[in-house]
Amino acid sequence: MSQTESKRSHPSWSFPEYTPVGTDLSSPAAVASYDRNQGTDAAADDALLDRLGVTAGICMVDLGCGTGSLVVQAARRGAEAHGVDVSEEMLTHARGRARRFGVTPHWHRAGFLDYAHRAAPADVVTTKSALHQLPDFWKQQALLNAAAVLRPGGTLYVWDVMFSFDPAEAEDHLQRWIDSASRPQGEGFTRADFETHVREEFSTYTWVLEGMIERAGLEIVSHSFPRTTHGEFLCRKRLPMASA
Ligand SMILES: C[S@@+](CC[C@H](N)C(=O)[O-])C[C@H]1O[C@@H](n2cnc3c(N)ncnc32)[C@H](O)[C@@H]1O
Repeated sequence: MSQTESKRSHPSWSFPEYTPVGTDLSSPAAVASYDRNQGTDAAADDALLDRLGVTAGICMVDLGCGTGSLVVQAARRGAEAHGVDVSEEMLTHARGRARRFGVTPHWHRAGFLDYAHRAAPADVVTTKSALHQLPDFWKQQALLNAAAVLRPGGTLYVWDVMFSFDPAEAEDHLQRWIDSASRPQGEGFTRADFETHVREEFSTYTWVLEGMIERAGLEIVSHSFPRTTHGEFLCRKRLPMASA
């Protein structure tokens, strides 16, 4: 198992992506209860890896990998799996999961903005429930970096809290999400967690993300917004234009 500090240098005016925003998931207590709160499910991760064609020999990079379930499941099927996260606590937990399953993914303490992929271009880049940690300008930079990690024709998968409701109805949709998703303390993410997400984190509209994805050199193959507050984009890195 390897862990590298694969980082690119950035100007001093860059977004401080190592400083947690909103609900701090990086404390030891938050990391210990994360999988229960988030409903981490290896079977669901496997279903996603099947959809994305992650098999033995495929190079996959998961940005904002958290406790590392998707990365470990990818490594268990023989993929060259890279987990990237700004949180040392999350990576420690992820390394423990990998050890339990006897696999050796590559772990990188790095962020969306400064991750430098020092390996062959990736076939698949994933990011689940993490891109909303960046304000929109920086999401665009993160998507450019994700595209740079991918080989032409490679796949980017994004799942996140993202808003597909009519902006004029935002309050109703957000309140309904908070009311239905909140759990008592000790049983899941709480009302305060969801309220903090809306108030202080940077989830944005699906139509804003669509424009950003396209401007990062990616083509949207499909999207699905199963709830008005959550959704996914499946994208492909455009092939270079053939010269005349
Ligand atoms: C809600 S968790 C999602 C974890 C995992 N992807 C999942 O689906 O369970 C968000 C993760 O993003 C990480 N994170 C926050 N900002 C980041 C950044 N700028 N670059 C990379 N990871 C970041 C956090 O440390 C945390 O582990």
